[in-house]
Formats: sequence, structure tokens, C-alpha cells
Amino acid sequence: MKIFRTSLLALAAFAATPLSAQQITLYSGRGEPLVAPVIAAFTAETGIGVNVRYGGTSELAILLQEEGDRSPADVFWSQDPGAMGAIAGMMAQMPADVTDRVPAAYRDAEGRWVATSGRGRVMARSTERVADDALPGSMLDLTAPEWNGRIVWAPTNGSLHAHITAMRVMLGDDATRAWLEGIRDNNPIAVRNNTAIVQSILDGEGDIGLTNNYYISRARARADDSPVSQELFAAGDIGNLLLVAAVGVLESSRHHDEAVRFVEFLLSPAAQQFFVSETQEFEVVPGSAIQAGRMLTLEQVTEAAPEVDLNDLSDLEGTLQMLRDLEIL
Ligand SMILES: [Fe+2]
Repeated sequence: MKIFRTSLLALAAFAATPLSAQQITLYSGRGEPLVAPVIAAFTAETGIGVNVRYGGTSELAILLQEEGDRSPADVFWSQDPGAMGAIAGMMAQMPADVTDRVPAAYRDAEGRWVATSGRGRVMARSTERVADDALPGSMLDLTAPEWNGRIVWAPTNGSLHAHITAMRVMLGDDATRAWLEGIRDNNPIAVRNNTAIVQSILDGEGDIGLTNNYYISRARARADDSPVSQELFAAGDIGNLLLVAAVGVLESSRHHDEAVRFVEFLLSPAAQQFFVSETQEFEVVPGSAIQAGRMLTLEQVTEAAPEVDLNDLSDLEGTLQMLRDLEIL
């Protein structure tokens, strides 16, 4: 899979050192190892230079709000949709021929941001201790007595927090709190992170886990016969959320066209394949990338996804408060 990284870097190497008359500024909540190779390839192809300010997604969103129209940023690339939703009002509308490459569920309806890749929330299942016909149809069913002591989760994990925020948007705070209480009272096994969730199932401690798709792929990549599988809940269930990274162009940008070109580049097959190969996330442009050994396709995940407006996922603090109130955190 490293071949795709190599091809991006090779493309970058062909470029003469860019004496770019044109330069854009990117605020990136995604980390440098994932972003720098893409920027090098973009500059090689377009001659447009990119200054990057790296930071936490939430901090950068707050900084953009403070800077307002005076911000030097042309582009904001967010690790999750919540922070983008919180400042969507500052983002410019992008051309439909760019944003329409991504399925409607993974872009702003007004064209102010578009996803760049996605982490699928899925269920990890012990193939030894959970039969096919025993799988829960909904994530909400995990509060049933039959799952007592068998669920593994990672209460401090950011993807779980985003998922619970989406639950609050879709089902309301009361139903979400009731579900969390039900899970808490079902004696779940709490572990540190997503890797530990899958390991717990492999070790025979837990039988079913709530995690991101690529952690199961990784375990299977290490040993093909690992007794853990990746499952979706019934179509439309809140359990099947795709959490996306998202990018948009600031309304205040004085380099709008160059900034849109950068967004376009992130949706190109070369960039989409790079994200899939590096992070094992899902591509968001259908047909733009392949991944050996992946257990679900983007089409399957999109078809099964719940209807949640990703603009509404900004109240992380409310979610953390709920978890503290229930003494889960
Ligand atoms: Fe992760």
C-alpha cells in the first residue's frame, strides 16, 4: 500500500522548487504526516504554494472565530464534522461540480464544506461467541440483558464522543441519556482505546464492541483467521455513522479560486487513494480508491448510514458533560 505514497511523493519531486506567486494558507486539524505529502503533490501539479498552520481541530475553529475577516486562512481542514459545522457560517460556497463528487450525506447542503475521508462506526463481533442470528439490529439493542457483561467500549475515545453527539442530534438528549444508562448498567468492559476493544474480543473478554472500521481491518491484516468480524446494524441505524474529516474555503479568503483548487485536489483519485492507504478510512468519492482486505465498501456504509446533518455535531462539551453526569467518565 506504500506504493501510493510513493507515487504522490514522486509527483512532488518532478516539480521545480515553486517560486509561487500564488500562495494559500491552510489551517489543518489533521496531522502533518497525512497532510504534507498531499500538499507537496498539489504544489507540484499546480504551482500553488501552501502555508500550513497545524493545530487541534477545535482550537483552530476557535481561532478562526476570533480572527474573523482578518484571518490569514484560506482553507480550513477539520478532523471531524462538528468543528466545521460550528463555523460553517464563515465558509464560502464552493462550485457544485466540485462538491457533487461526494455523496450528499457527506457534504454541506449549501456547498460550504465537503468531506475528504471517513471513519465508519461499526460493530466488532466475536465470530466464536456471537452467532449470525444473534446480532443486534440496532445499537440501541445493546442495553438488552443478553449483552450484560459482553460489550467492550472506550469511554474516553473521541470517535465515541462524536458518535454520542450524533445520537443526541438524531434521538434527543433524553433517549441518549437513557441508552447510556442502559449500557452503563449492562456492565460493559471499559478499555483505553479502539485497538484495545478489538484485542479484548480476541482475548475472549468481550463479545461485541463499538469501534471504527479500520481497527478490525488491522487485526485481520495481522492474522487472516482472527475470530473478529466487522458488522453493520440495520440500515439507517444510528450505529452505522460515518464520521468524516471535512474541508472548506473561508469566505474572507482573497485566493478563492486557488483554495477551491486545493479542495478539488483533495477529492482527486491520487489524494483519495493516499488517505485510504495511509489511514484505512473510507474514500468519499465513489470509485476513487481501493483497499485490499477491506470488509465493507463505501456503498454499503452509505446505504446503511443514519440520516444525521453533520453540521449539527458541534456540541461535544454537552456530550462530555452527559458522560460525567452518568459517571461514565
Ligand atoms: Fe482512530
